[in-house]
Amino acid sequence: MRIWEERQGAARLIFADDERTGMQAVVAIDSTKLGPALGGCRWMSYGSEDDAIADALRLARGMTYKNAMAGLPYGGGKAVLYAPQPNSQVGVRGAAAEAAAFRALGRLVDSLRGAYITGMDLGTSVREMDWIRTETPYVTDTTGSLGADGEFTAEMTAYGVYLGIRAALKRAFGDDSPAGRTIAVQGLGKVGLALCRHLAAAGAELIVADVRAHRVREAIAAFRGRTRATSPADIVRAACDVFAPCALGGVLGDDAASRLRCRIVAGAANNQLVSPRGGERMHEAGVLYAPDYVINAGGIIVTAVELAGGDAAEAKRCVERIPAALDAVFDMAAREKLSPSAAADRLAERRLAGTQP
Ligand code: NAI
Repeated sequence: MRIWEERQGAARLIFADDERTGMQAVVAIDSTKLGPALGGCRWMSYGSEDDAIADALRLARGMTYKNAMAGLPYGGGKAVLYAPQPNSQVGVRGAAAEAAAFRALGRLVDSLRGAYITGMDLGTSVREMDWIRTETPYVTDTTGSLGADGEFTAEMTAYGVYLGIRAALKRAFGDDSPAGRTIAVQGLGKVGLALCRHLAAAGAELIVADVRAHRVREAIAAFRGRTRATSPADIVRAACDVFAPCALGGVLGDDAASRLRCRIVAGAANNQLVSPRGGERMHEAGVLYAPDYVINAGGIIVTAVELAGGDAAEAKRCVERIPAALDAVFDMAAREKLSPSAAADRLAERRLAGTQP
């Protein structure tokens, strides 16, 4: 296997090309200022190698900020495996080929001697993590781990988002209670549905949408009398107090502020903003935005707690610090006359520079 390294600004890009298994991957290490780079392994098809590298760099930077804002002793990194492509082989032979490719990736991770710790991300599951584990200890979310339980991780993410919504309600309305507030939840997957459960129990009225109709029916049945459905196309402009994106990234384009009819945007989806301008426009329009990587840190907190030898109860306690992290962002935004999205980036940068605790 050939392993080589390039630099992109301050970031390290470590490539591997394994002739025997056809594995091609890149690990992007954005920062190790606060500790080893921590971030999952993405496995998907890309249009080109350049696209895969750009994605790895962007995601690694996102992890640097997310980990810094969650107060974790980790930097940011990401692995992207772009060959073989997912589902390119089927059946038992396919699984054997995939196992060989992920073991090769494990050797790449191991060669970094702990500078980067990998885990699950889009396209990967416990199966791939177990394959990686045969070659290196620098992997999380393997069989038996807390992180391997997708339901628990999603529940912790939802709990963090729920507490974050309360912090945002307090900031916007002076009262953190969701009782009587209308909250529009976009996406009723593992996190969205768990979030609805917390909100309904606290007395919120829900508006929900999902492209999978059965998830909508489940939500209506589970939170009867408190929930109404709208179409996936309309949820962004639903009249509500809080819009909670819990489906895909990129839902807040630069012109999103003109369509939103809410006071707060606070949800679990990663990379909600298409560009920083969207955050500025929402701020100008008086919409309070809870930066995604601050409010949705529950999942990575589970991983970090586990790496430190902690258990589920400890993870829950750590997730309960998310409202304080959001408050720090909102305070800085008010003090320095910034949008919350700009304030979060600045606060993360200062933590990395060691100029702010
Ligand atoms: P999931 O895949 O279980 O759920 C996503 C849901 O969104 C699905 O039910 C899907 O049908 C729905 N959906 C897709 N496109 C939609 C659209 N246009 N309109 C309405 N609904 C749509 O994913 P999960 O785990 O619930 O994650 C949700 C979001 O939170 C993702 O963006 C994920 O990256 C992010 N996130 C999840 C974490 C976790 O612990 N699971 C941690 C941090 C972030």
